[in-house]
Amino acid sequence: MQTVPYIPDNAPFTPEQRSWLNGFLAGIYSTAPAITPAADPPPSLKIAVLYASQSGTAEGLARKVAKDLKAKGNVASLHSLEGYTPAALIAERYAVIIASTYGEGEAPDGVRPFYEQLCLERFPCCENLSYAVLALGDSNYEQFCKFGIDLDNKLAALAATRICKRVNCDVDLDEAFAQWKTTLYASIDEIVAARPARTAPSSSIAVVSPTPSIAVPSTHTRDNPYLAQLIDKRPLTCDVSSKLTLHLAFSIAGSNVSYEAGDACGVIPQNDPRLVEEILHSLNFSGSVSVQLPKAGATTLNDALLNHLQITRLTRKMVESYATIGQCQTLFNLLVPEQQSHLEKYTYDRGLIDLLHDYPGVLRDPADLVAMLPRLTPRLYSISSSPAAHAGEIHTTVAVVRYRSHNRERGGVCSTLLADRTSTGESLPVYIQPNKRFRLPPDPGAPIIMIGPGTGIAPFRSFLHQRRALNHTGRNWLFFGERSAATDFLYRDELEYMCKDGHLTRMDLAFSRDQDHKIYVQDRMLEQSSELFGWLEDGASLYVCGDASRMAKDVDATLHAIVQKHRSCARDAAAEYVQQLKDEHRYHRDVY
Ligand SMILES: Cc1cc2nc3c(=O)[nH]c(=O)nc-3n(C[C@H](O)[C@H](O)[C@H](O)COP(=O)(O)OP(=O)(O)OC[C@H]3O[C@@H](n4cnc5c(N)ncnc54)[C@H](O)[C@@H]3O)c2cc1C
Ligand SMILES: NC(=O)c1ccc[n+]([C@@H]2O[C@H](COP(=O)([O-])OP(=O)(O)OC[C@H]3O[C@@H](n4cnc5c(N)ncnc54)[C@H](OP(=O)(O)O)[C@@H]3O)[C@@H](O)[C@H]2O)c1
Ligand SMILES: Cc1cc2nc3c(=O)[nH]c(=O)nc-3n(C[C@H](O)[C@H](O)[C@H](O)COP(=O)(O)O)c2cc1C
Repeated sequence: MQTVPYIPDNAPFTPEQRSWLNGFLAGIYSTAPAITPAADPPPSLKIAVLYASQSGTAEGLARKVAKDLKAKGNVASLHSLEGYTPAALIAERYAVIIASTYGEGEAPDGVRPFYEQLCLERFPCCENLSYAVLALGDSNYEQFCKFGIDLDNKLAALAATRICKRVNCDVDLDEAFAQWKTTLYASIDEIVAARPARTAPSSSIAVVSPTPSIAVPSTHTRDNPYLAQLIDKRPLTCDVSSKLTLHLAFSIAGSNVSYEAGDACGVIPQNDPRLVEEILHSLNFSGSVSVQLPKAGATTLNDALLNHLQITRLTRKMVESYATIGQCQTLFNLLVPEQQSHLEKYTYDRGLIDLLHDYPGVLRDPADLVAMLPRLTPRLYSISSSPAAHAGEIHTTVAVVRYRSHNRERGGVCSTLLADRTSTGESLPVYIQPNKRFRLPPDPGAPIIMIGPGTGIAPFRSFLHQRRALNHTGRNWLFFGERSAATDFLYRDELEYMCKDGHLTRMDLAFSRDQDHKIYVQDRMLEQSSELFGWLEDGASLYVCGDASRMAKDVDATLHAIVQKHRSCARDAAAEYVQQLKDEHRYHRDVY
């Protein structure tokens, strides 16, 4: 008799998720047809669908591919490359890999050990493996899709065979994903057709193991967001501050939206209507003209520019399309490889409106405008509330992006939507972006060290409230930094209160602009290095959140230096110690 798999109590799920999954599995296995070996069933492939993902996009696409492959009668299993080994990969005959890029062209944090092992000189050849790679990235980054590209090249160098050519997807990935899928499925069909018939696999549903790669499908996703009412909005910085950071609370009461401490909230943004109006005016286009969008279908040009297309940033691809439509030689000259740095300088702080003003008279057809613009993508915000302490609410901590360039005041699309164009009582489409790699330690008594300057404080406010609400006894140490104590001490009252009542065991502050030289969180870490190392030796988990470009790198370097000093060891040994923290899931980063 077929046994129904179940999710054990120690699997990393909440009781509700576990119960949902167990019900799901029971459903599948009760409705699955009785398994009797059919005579000469159609041949099928056993395919591993793997993903390297940090914020869930690659994981979501991998899920779709695994589902499609199963629907075609193949046996597809789904795994994250985090915790996966290259040895497991070469044991596969067929693998499909969807990989995003982070850092400066690197693998997502948890996937680095996998790739490092694969790159060891002694790594055996993979000639039995056939594989396909889809690389995800964002062309605003210099090292576009680099990890996917490196992985694809590495596997080819190890003698594995490509099932189909790699495709590099930009943020607006629907079309590239669809093309890659079509080629991949056709190639797999060819492989299947060329194989002799054999006994069918017992089920096209791969054995479900309780690994973190299973996520509970949420009803509200990026494509089906929840309309959440804004119920609180207040500045966390003072009027006279040089920046504006907001505390925002959305109601999810009565909805089935749920999250865990550490998750992020995705907000579907809308462009500034005044900018849309200016673009329409400068092109002499009517906003009511009908246009066709790849995903949303037919809509008005006004709606397309307001809700669906990215108009505030310029990319190389946009400039290329514009130059081609207008056969504009000046722009073609800017697009030659030798002019790369000039092109970057031009696109760095300009948007569509600048291109239209600088090179007028190019666009005559609204369809050309729509075709050249990338899709407007959701913005993520680390959730700063705790599901246990703030039931029915999602809080976020948002730094408002404003700057002036080329004689124009400019603003970040989503942060200014929240700051200037959304009042309490109004609603915005949101969804939860789970962040399974950024969780409180399972042991409620384990100490935690949180390093979160600026908006990096957000998930740590969530952690602190969550630990308090659940009576976790573990010690809590926060490093927080901002520009000035008088104007930018985010959540000052709450944090000082938690210090006073002992919930926050330690709080070290770095106000960078309150003296004539900069003081940053990593300076405070160094000052307290002996105690910090002691906490690590006591089993503390260390978390970093906030700016990826400078802060997270400097904090990482400081951590290495502290380990080196207190273990009196060489750099390599310190790196091994830090790697071990990562392997033990005790060093987590949520950086952006
Ligand atoms: C996992 C994750 C968690 C996050 N959590 C938070 C959070 O808790 N709080 C938070 O505030 N943000 C957070 N962010 C960042 C957030 O998602 C948005 O990127 C941020 O709010 C900016 O979005 P925007 O739409 O307002 O700006 P956009 O329209 O995206 O504009 C930002 C862009 O403007 C340009 N720009 C900005 N300043 C200048 C300048 N001075 N000169 C020239 N160009 C400039 C840059 O190209 C920049 O990339 C997080 C991001 C991720 C990925
Ligand atoms: N595009 C840009 O130029 C730009 C600039 C700032 C922030 N950002 C982005 O804006 C978002 C929100 O920023 P935020 O409000 O959270 O704050 P933030 O800009 O990250 O600043 C928070 C604190 O960190 C300090 N800081 C700066 N460099 C640091 C480093 N190398 N190590 C440690 N601390 C450092 C800042 O000091 P000082 O500011 O006094 O140096 C400030 O005191 C982030 O995504 C960030 O990446 C972009
Ligand atoms: C902090 C950060 C760094 C990134 N660095 C790169 C990069 O160097 N190159 C690139 O092509 N894309 C980069 N990206 C874009 C991501 O690869 C892209 O958004 C991808 O779709 C994310 O996939 P995921 O949701 O599966 O993690 C970066 C994104 C973030 C948030």
